[in-house]
Amino acid sequence: MLVCQCNGITEKEIVNVIKKKGATRLEQIQELTGAGTSCGRCIPVIEDLLDQHRNKTENPQLKIDF
Ligand code: FES
Repeated sequence: MLVCQCNGITEKEIVNVIKKKGATRLEQIQELTGAGTSCGRCIPVIEDLLDQHRNKTENPQLKIDF
C-alpha cells in the first residue's frame, strides 16, 4: 500500500526501516525514506506504523529512544 503519495513510499518500505534499521521516530523515517517530507498528509499513517512496529525491531542495538 502506498503511504506517501508525494514521494512514492510504500507501507512495506516504512515497516522495513522500522524493523531492520530500528527507526523509532518520525524524523528517522523521513530521513531514511523521504516519506512525510512534502505535504505531510501521510504523517499520521507513518506514526501509526511506528506505534505498531517499533517494539518488534529485529536489531535492538540500533534502537535509540530520546
Ligand atoms: S503524502 Fe507524504 S508528504 Fe505528501
